[in-house]
Amino acid sequence: MIDVQLNKIQKKQFTVGIIGLGYVGLPLMWTFHNNDMRVLGFDIDEKKVENLKNGIPYIKHLGTEMMEALANSDIADATTDFSRLNEADAILLCVPTPLDQHREPDMSYVEQTTETVSKHLRKGQLVILESTTWPGTTEELMIPILEKNSGLKAGTDFYVAYSPEREDPGNADFNTAKIPKVVGGHGPEALKLALAMYDTAIVETVPVSDCKTAEAVKLTENIFRSVNIALVNELKVVYEAMGIDVHEVIDAAATKPFGFMKFTPGPGLGGHCIPIDPFYLTWKAREFEKHTRFIELAGEVNTNMPSYVVDRTMLALNAHKKAMNGSKILVIGLAYKPDVDDMRESPTFKIFDLLKSLGAEVAYYDPFIPEVLPTREHSDWTGTKSIEWNKETVYEFDAVLISTNHSTIDYAELAEWSECVVDTRNAMRGVVAKNDVHIFKA
Ligand SMILES: NC(=O)c1ccc[n+]([C@@H]2O[C@H](COP(=O)([O-])OP(=O)(O)OC[C@H]3O[C@@H](n4cnc5c(N)ncnc54)[C@H](O)[C@@H]3O)[C@@H](O)[C@H]2O)c1
Repeated sequence: MIDVQLNKIQKKQFTVGIIGLGYVGLPLMWTFHNNDMRVLGFDIDEKKVENLKNGIPYIKHLGTEMMEALANSDIADATTDFSRLNEADAILLCVPTPLDQHREPDMSYVEQTTETVSKHLRKGQLVILESTTWPGTTEELMIPILEKNSGLKAGTDFYVAYSPEREDPGNADFNTAKIPKVVGGHGPEALKLALAMYDTAIVETVPVSDCKTAEAVKLTENIFRSVNIALVNELKVVYEAMGIDVHEVIDAAATKPFGFMKFTPGPGLGGHCIPIDPFYLTWKAREFEKHTRFIELAGEVNTNMPSYVVDRTMLALNAHKKAMNGSKILVIGLAYKPDVDDMRESPTFKIFDLLKSLGAEVAYYDPFIPEVLPTREHSDWTGTKSIEWNKETVYEFDAVLISTNHSTIDYAELAEWSECVVDTRNAMRGVVAKNDVHIFKA
């Protein structure tokens, strides 16, 4: 059976089905498509499917060219009709894996999608989970659902693998095709088939022993980032108290050609990955009566950063003989990182809340996010619109707080337009400000 599938891959007669057409699934679809592989995208969100079919962009940094090409392609299609899953030779799951209100893994999206797949599963299909998750998910959670509902057996009737998505939205140097793909199979045949499929489109594949190892790889990468970001955030606070510029320290340390890796401090953690994924391991570790103290500590340090930033803003206002209560504060950047339109888990929301609770009047500017769309946790801010970027408007504010350093913003212009800038990203580096302009690092 596997030879038939391998042959189809070689002849590019293999259809890759992708479930979840968001930040991960859409570029993945594009990557296979670019390598002449037939692609069929699935989503429960009718609007996304409609936009994809009509070439209308819905993720800003991915641009228009991709959407137009996919819409006009003979080998790409998108649908909300999951009965078409049987057209796919491989089914890749790219659905969300958030935390629930108790900060425990919310597996409902993976479970629901697996249930759906199991109802349409046919012999010879390859099912791959790409969502970030706790080690054991593919084999302990997914395979039992797939087998129970289909009556088929994993490893003999159909194939299962796990391959983490390592996409870094907005990174101009690395897109999905250029990032090596770690793959763990449920058995050697599943691994062989998954590697053969990814090898058609991705620069390098990295096979590992099994699914749970591949699941652990992804968590390890994100825990590494979370812990190191917490470390530089802690150093920032300590060095600030000592009158030392943490950014200068880190840049100088980064000249060491070995044994140091540069991480930059900021206003806290954001995005769908780093603030969330480490706690998937914390949760699973409890089953083994193990503790993840580094993860908890990093979470604590990073979670406290918005408070620190707001305290610094208060000091900045104080230097201008102003109180926070009643002041007008402009926050630059709602996206959790530069040059993307993704505001999920953005620490800016926490900063908004804190500023408001202290009596400040808050507004924001983000060239990537014209309006706050509904989110699960910050409904107070839904519908708030970005201000217009011009001197008259910016001048109205008592302080400007840079939360995200989008590269399209002219920071020299900002120094002309505001007398009090609180900079959490070192965005004002190199800007020569007039005497009466205060730039506070935060
Ligand atoms: N965004 C990133 O930078 C990134 C990077 C690496 C890994 N990941 C991981 O990839 C996974 C997906 O993340 P994302 O950022 O693409 O999420 P996303 O929210 O952008 O996209 C998920 C898509 O899945 C769809 N969906 C939800 N439930 C569904 C269902 N039952 N059936 C079909 N479609 C459904 C949603 O409508 C949405 O379009 C997560 O596990 C995430 O942790 C994300």
